[in-house]
Amino acid sequence: MRILVIAMAAASLALNVSGFIDDTRIVRWNTLSGQKTQLVGHRGEKAFMPEHTRASYWQAALEGADYIEPDLGLSKDGHLVVNHNEWLGGNTNVASIPELAHLRTNKTWTDGGKSKTVTNEWFIADMTLAQIKMVRVNQADFKFRPQHFNGMFDVLTFEEYLQIMRNVTIDLGRSFGVIPELKSPKLYNVGRSYPRYYEDRAILTMRHYGWTKISKQIDSSQHTDLRLAPLRPLDGACLGPSVWQSFDQDTAAYLSRHTFTPVVALNQDLPWFFTPKGLDRVSKYAQVISPWKDFFVTGAEAYYKANNITWDAKEIAQMGGFIKPENLAKEIHRRGMTISPYTFYDSHQDMSYLCTKGVKPDSKSGFCPKDKRDEFFYFFAQGMDFMFVENIEEANVLRILYTNELERDQWRI
Ligand SMILES: *[C@@H]1O[C@H](CO)[C@@H](O)[C@H](O)[C@H]1NC(C)=O
Ligand SMILES: *[C@@H]1O[C@H](CO)[C@@H](O)[C@H](O)[C@H]1NC(C)=O
Ligand SMILES: *[C@@H]1O[C@H](CO)[C@@H](O)[C@H](O)[C@H]1NC(C)=O
Repeated sequence: MRILVIAMAAASLALNVSGFIDDTRIVRWNTLSGQKTQLVGHRGEKAFMPEHTRASYWQAALEGADYIEPDLGLSKDGHLVVNHNEWLGGNTNVASIPELAHLRTNKTWTDGGKSKTVTNEWFIADMTLAQIKMVRVNQADFKFRPQHFNGMFDVLTFEEYLQIMRNVTIDLGRSFGVIPELKSPKLYNVGRSYPRYYEDRAILTMRHYGWTKISKQIDSSQHTDLRLAPLRPLDGACLGPSVWQSFDQDTAAYLSRHTFTPVVALNQDLPWFFTPKGLDRVSKYAQVISPWKDFFVTGAEAYYKANNITWDAKEIAQMGGFIKPENLAKEIHRRGMTISPYTFYDSHQDMSYLCTKGVKPDSKSGFCPKDKRDEFFYFFAQGMDFMFVENIEEANVLRILYTNELERDQWRI
């Protein structure tokens, strides 16, 4: 049995192209595949570089992220662009550009079952790509991060992100996963020629760059204006895997039906999700579940209470009740899904667990992380398949230290 496990691990490692440093380690993790946790560079490498810029994506690649994350939005004239917020005020110089002053406005929309109102902002959905390209990205909201690169980089299109992902693959000779998040479909599909305009445009763009295959026909006659650039030849390089993400459960289900790319269902605001029957429901359309990390530590019930989010007690009871934080990973894996919690901040930032703010955890163990190592080791031990991390270097070092421990335990060395 031991020999079989080792042979399987060796075979799977031979196929595993990710990770610069520790690919030769033969240890079994608690992830669904038994392989090490995959580190997802959240918005690129935002601990050091202005997020979602070419510098942020290159830095993430150089630090050895397994996946590099872009967040998508859609310009008024139908271009997919990458930015975390649906608006540009927080992380760019948009407010200082007189030609764009007239675009400042207010909006209300729903995303992930939650209503959002944002006032006095510049929204991607109202701007043309030419207007968006006038803007420069900065770190203004995050004073503890390096500010040296403010004003140097523009907002990228999704195509530019995919070109950069092909470039790092070819130039560094290593595969990287792409993991785009479709933000706020209910905002971006308003006023378009048909209801899935945004999703289909993302699918057609991903397909062009070789990162997805379409499983169910989509109406490309609606996108005859979509001009995609010629591809840089791979010259024998190998593209990494791809995964979709969305907080919008309808969009997650749509992406799952229409492509062969696995889908991450993101969520923190829908209480039914964190029950046994809720996970059964999600497993019909998602291959990966991505909860806010606190659901594995302080727990769902404590989270909803602390955030004044109400739930229907009868419905939750009928769905099997809230799953305890220490059992959540096992329950997700039991349904054949992998797990990708967010967000593991750089150690300059507060870890942001409710239990560290005096909220009583739902868990029997009462675990509450004291520091970065404590936090990462807990999540590694729980078998997280992916983690959204903000300082890839730091996360990588902790992954190596954890691998050392596994090696000691499994090989008694
Ligand atoms: C946006 O909301 C703010 C504050 O609620 C209000 O003062 C302002 O007039 C609104 N702007 C527009 C364009 O409606
Ligand atoms: C990708 O690499 C090619 C060849 O070096 C370069 O011309 C192109 O500008 C790069 N694309 C992006 C978006 O950086
Ligand atoms: C929840 O409600 C309490 C009592 O009204 C309030 O003190 C607290 O700030 C609220 N918490 C959040 C996250 O809104």
